[in-house]
Amino acid sequence: MRTQVAIVGAGPAGLLLSHLLGLEGIDSVLLERQTAEYVQARIRAGILEAGTVELLRNTGLGDRLDAEGMEHRGIHLQWPENRHHLDFVDLIGRSVTVYGQTEVTKDLMAAREKAGRPAFYSVSDVTLHDVTEQPSVSFVDADGRAQRIDADVVVGCDGFHGPSRTSVPSPQVWERTYPFAWLGVLADVAPSTDELIYAWHPDGFAMHSMRSPRVSRFYLQVTPDEDIAQWSDDRIWTALSARLGVAGWTLETGPITEKSVLPMRSFVSTPMRHGNLYLAGDAAHIVPPTGAKGLNLAVADVALLATALTASFRGDDSLVDAYSETALRRVWRCTHFSWWMTSMLHRHGDDFDAQLQLSQLRRTVTSEPAARELADNYAGLPL
Ligand code: APR
Ligand code: PHB
Repeated sequence: MRTQVAIVGAGPAGLLLSHLLGLEGIDSVLLERQTAEYVQARIRAGILEAGTVELLRNTGLGDRLDAEGMEHRGIHLQWPENRHHLDFVDLIGRSVTVYGQTEVTKDLMAAREKAGRPAFYSVSDVTLHDVTEQPSVSFVDADGRAQRIDADVVVGCDGFHGPSRTSVPSPQVWERTYPFAWLGVLADVAPSTDELIYAWHPDGFAMHSMRSPRVSRFYLQVTPDEDIAQWSDDRIWTALSARLGVAGWTLETGPITEKSVLPMRSFVSTPMRHGNLYLAGDAAHIVPPTGAKGLNLAVADVALLATALTASFRGDDSLVDAYSETALRRVWRCTHFSWWMTSMLHRHGDDFDAQLQLSQLRRTVTSEPAARELADNYAGLPL
């Protein structure tokens, strides 16, 4: 087989890249280790920045997003006895949209099928060859047949555990692990809030998010080695009610349909290009989930890369040559913002640290420049 762009990994980054290249008349082939059903069913943050929404709309992916996405003007920032609304639209003139990553992935898969762009699911033994000269990717397909794709370019969109990053020789890596994790909970209950609540609490951070008018998503700060068996549904609701509680507000409860512990880390690997191999999304960087930057950052990478590769196929290499450096500027901005939100909201350290966090929270809701700084980063810098 031959294609212009071989894309390893069909998560949101790989699928969107293939969509954007397709719109420019550039062929690609997607290789995915999992089944399409498995990829769709992964539960992940679904907060879309204003620029992500605009990009999806402008590239023909806006129909269901506009019908079912929930536009949020801002967030609630909270600590005991205090809940403050930050109105991003008033502050910076942009909003965010709650639309599950599952839904984004479904829309991208439907667009791929409609356009007839090729994808191989359930592949194994994906191996990259000669990425500096004449790239190719070998793999074993779902029926056990050995296959090879020759390509002009290979893009690693294969997430944090994928193989592509290892084809970059001597990468420079920056990493931070955090002394806490999130217990994520999905429940069949209407959200008890109009917009997301991020809560600092002496017992640990809690968050109230949502997936639809009937499905809520919650998170509780726990330890990285937390035994999930210790978290009965009753214990979860009691902890959420305590940590999210303010006078005059009640948390509605309902059947819990999923719970899992999510690790938190910041990770950046550079460069994001080696010869004809490019990395995008989680393959090159991970942010902790506070602030929901993961998906948006992957979208920013592939938007940049699609433009750069299109120019390169038309004879202008200036954008591909600048790709790694340009992408990393946004990566580090989002890495800082996610680290900052995480550090401000999670209980760690001693009482001195707690007072600093509370002071930062008060400052963020009372100073307009401080509120604007949060809003600008949260709603996302322009693509
Ligand atoms: N061969 C083929 N595919 C692979 C391989 C492999 N060896 N290893 C991993 N993959 C696939 C995974 O199965 C997954 O579907 O690569 C895909 C990577 O997808 P994501 O992990 O979703 O990464 P990305 O597309 O960059 O995600 C964007 O959204 O919520 C966030 O955490 C998510 O931040 C990430 C972002
Ligand atoms: C989510 O809905 O899963 C979510 C929302 C906001 C975050 C993180 C996760 O900051």
